[in-house]
Amino acid sequence: MQRVSVGLAGRSYEILIGPDLLRRAAEFIAPLAPTHIALVTSATVNDLYAERVRNALSGLGPLMTIVLPDGEAHKNWSSVSKILDALVEGGADRKSLVVALGGGVVGDVAGFAASIFMRGIRFVQMPTTLLAQVDSSVGGKTGINHERGKNLIGAFHQPQVVISDTSTLKTLPSRELSAGLAEILKHGLLADCKYFEQVVHDLPALRACAPDALGRAIAGSCEIKAGIVTRDERETGERALLNLGHTFGHAIEAMTGYTRWLHGEAVGCGLVLAADLSVRVGLLERAAIGPIETAVQAAGLPARIEGLSLERAIESMRGDKKSEAGAIRFILLEHIGRAVQRTVPDAALRATLAAGGYA
Ligand SMILES: NC(=O)c1ccc[n+]([C@@H]2O[C@H](COP(=O)([O-])OP(=O)(O)OC[C@H]3O[C@@H](n4cnc5c(N)ncnc54)[C@H](O)[C@@H]3O)[C@@H](O)[C@H]2O)c1
Ligand SMILES: [Zn+2]
Repeated sequence: MQRVSVGLAGRSYEILIGPDLLRRAAEFIAPLAPTHIALVTSATVNDLYAERVRNALSGLGPLMTIVLPDGEAHKNWSSVSKILDALVEGGADRKSLVVALGGGVVGDVAGFAASIFMRGIRFVQMPTTLLAQVDSSVGGKTGINHERGKNLIGAFHQPQVVISDTSTLKTLPSRELSAGLAEILKHGLLADCKYFEQVVHDLPALRACAPDALGRAIAGSCEIKAGIVTRDERETGERALLNLGHTFGHAIEAMTGYTRWLHGEAVGCGLVLAADLSVRVGLLERAAIGPIETAVQAAGLPARIEGLSLERAIESMRGDKKSEAGAIRFILLEHIGRAVQRTVPDAALRATLAAGGYA
């Protein structure tokens, strides 16, 4: 088992990474001495892993299970209400514990419910997707979608501990696994060239869920994200670098109605576009693009998505939650392992989109 610490003074916690950790859950949760445990999960994950967790935690006191429907469409108030109702009806108190077992959707919703129940009770993340293990379970952003936009409602609420059982990834569909690899590549590109090269070397092993490669890649990604979150918990500066590839990615998702491409797939393509734009504004050497594109493809992600509207893409990026007063702030690369935040000339952005197959 590997441990990564997230150092946030009174809100510090550990991320535990390794095979078969769900069976050992009691070891990590008993020290929290919860009065009740509310296990929140989604239908698919409930069938696969909830029993394992219930068995592991059976000696720790009363436990209830709340099963949400699967999918991003249920990252909404109705799911939050369901959790809050169950907590009230189950007699939960300030010492109760919410355990989020599932992908990023479950983690975001359950964490948000925990952040507002009795003005905030403790919660534990048990992420079961690669994306959740390297990204959404780390850093304390919780929330739900509004019908007008993703993640518009939420709170910062850090977990007590993150338990990432890498064995659960064996049942994850390969498209979902690749989507998680996009965030891993992103972490390497923005913060650590050596880590990026190691991940690229390990891509075949990662796609085959080899435990050593998974442990190495997940721990490395968590260390990068944890470092950034420690220095900038509330995203007033450096944390924005984690949006590398996301300005383009969000536009791809929005233009395709959030159905055609998974978030990580859109980000994979976004990483290539961000690299291209970095070259056009004179930050990055052209020679760096090849390896980035090859890595995205080797991760099973699209490096290019043809036929989207250039004008609609620009419009969508100007409306992104992360842009300010219509100015699009891009995260660009100076070299592999170093990202910076910049606004760019309109002509460079248009050239990148045109070269990327936008019309
Ligand atoms: N809070 C943050 O900092 C942060 C960061 C990144 C993403 N997110 C959020 O995370 C969400 C995406 O998370 P996701 O990619 O994990 O998607 P998800 O939670 O929808 O999970 C993807 C699918 O995989 C299934 N699944 C989960 N674990 C499985 C397993 N082990 N085996 C088989 N199937 C399994 C789920 O039931 C679901 O159908 C988005 O809502 C996004 O906004 C949050
Ligand atoms: Zn992302």
